[in-house]
Amino acid sequence: MTTMVVVASKHGSTAEIGERIASTLSARGVKAHVKDVGEAGKWLYETDNVVVGMPVYRQKLMGEGTLFLEAHRTELSGKPLFLFAVGGGPRLDQKLMDQLHRFPHRELTYFRGAMDEEKLSFFEKLQLKVVKAPSDVDLRDWPAIEDWAHGLLAYGVN
Ligand SMILES: Cc1cc2nc3c(=O)[nH]c(=O)nc-3n(C[C@H](O)[C@H](O)[C@H](O)COP(=O)(O)O)c2cc1C
Repeated sequence: MTTMVVVASKHGSTAEIGERIASTLSARGVKAHVKDVGEAGKWLYETDNVVVGMPVYRQKLMGEGTLFLEAHRTELSGKPLFLFAVGGGPRLDQKLMDQLHRFPHRELTYFRGAMDEEKLSFFEKLQLKVVKAPSDVDLRDWPAIEDWAHGLLAYGVN
């Protein structure tokens, strides 16, 4: 059985969460690997379980993530699907939660992410300044991320 962790990630923090989910599963004997959303489609046919993660930017889920879910709706409908969103705020906006709920899934969660000033463009730093959000902070709760990954085993991910 194989599990693919698909990540949409602009600056890498969601990808690192995906890596941690995959390594947590691997440590429990699951064959798990991470793929960028841009290349994940071609691996779907040989994947049993799929985890998809995407960040929030400017109050929207990163388009590449939702497009992947839309474009592969048929293939994904036959597989256990687990979703996570990543953002700077304390919780996921209800409208975005509802948007993700429309994709048939077993589990859906939200993790806080990270902002690394060195990776941000001038425009991005300005956007964060306008909404008084920090531009250099790592809010990722690694134990909670690992707990969530362990929880997937209860769904038969093995
Ligand atoms: C320009 C910019 C806009 C953002 N907008 C939001 C937002 O609207 N809501 C939110 O919760 N987080 C927001 N964030 C935080 C990101 O979701 C967070 O940094 C996430 O970890 C980025 O993931 P990535 O490194 O995989 O691209 C924003 C971050 C940046 C840099």
